Amino acid sequence: MDMCNTTEVKHSRHIERQYQGEATHDGAGVRLTRLLSQGLQRRLDPFLMLDFFGSEDAADYLAGFPDHPHRGFETITYMLEGRMRHRDNAGHEGLLATGGMQWMVAGRGVVHSEMPEQEAGRMAGFQLWLNLPARDKMTSPWYRDFAAADLPCANGAGGARAIVLAGIAEGVAGAVQRDATEPLILDLQLPAGASWSQPLPPGHHAFAVLYAGQAAVGEQALTLEALAVLDDDPAADGVIVSAREEARVFLVAGRPLREPIVQYGPFVMNTREEIAAAVQDLREGRFG
Ligand code: CO
Repeated sequence: MDMCNTTEVKHSRHIERQYQGEATHDGAGVRLTRLLSQGLQRRLDPFLMLDFFGSEDAADYLAGFPDHPHRGFETITYMLEGRMRHRDNAGHEGLLATGGMQWMVAGRGVVHSEMPEQEAGRMAGFQLWLNLPARDKMTSPWYRDFAAADLPCANGAGGARAIVLAGIAEGVAGAVQRDATEPLILDLQLPAGASWSQPLPPGHHAFAVLYAGQAAVGEQALTLEALAVLDDDPAADGVIVSAREEARVFLVAGRPLREPIVQYGPFVMNTREEIAAAVQDLREGRFG
């Protein structure tokens, strides 16, 4: 008898390959690890980019991300630790603090800044870019800030918990749902010996990032701070992540759009003509 009434996954996906990512700088010089970039955009469609940042050294993050544009996709910023202030050209402003998330749909265009609101201490988090379907790329921009306390939490067996940023886990609906790409975004918090069973629709692309502790998918250990692409085994009905020691795992899945992807920096459209239009609109002040 299963007393915990937890979700069952009969056949877990496996790790197809792990990527260490690339140490880089972005914004005005923020040090980060780019775990997902252009080379994986087809494989992990609808996800376009994943950055992980984490440093105790203010010199790595103080410069922040001054005014910059986005068009054609959504950004999800999940703050593990620290404080970041967001301001955009439409006059919106928000503070992202420890455990909080900002969901932004850039749509036809946003110009914004993301600046640390701290001069010392650790700052850590993820920024994920999620593509918009062609029909929605020029939609009106919007964003929403969620404080840590506003993010739904699901409980599994053995003390396992998931912060449900998007999608559904253990019957708990996440903070955000999106129709076209059906993203699932979980921050798994697993005590030593605990597992998380997460059903995943066949055909959805999925990956996991272990960012603290030790965990595995089946017998395959997750490499710390690497991007583990999960395979598309058609017989699999989900994934089982097990903690060998207390662990934190960022688990992401979504429905591929299977549309052309043309990226030029912070613009991601379907054609080169649309990219040229974005560059021109920005230059001529028609953005946002
Ligand atoms: Co930005």
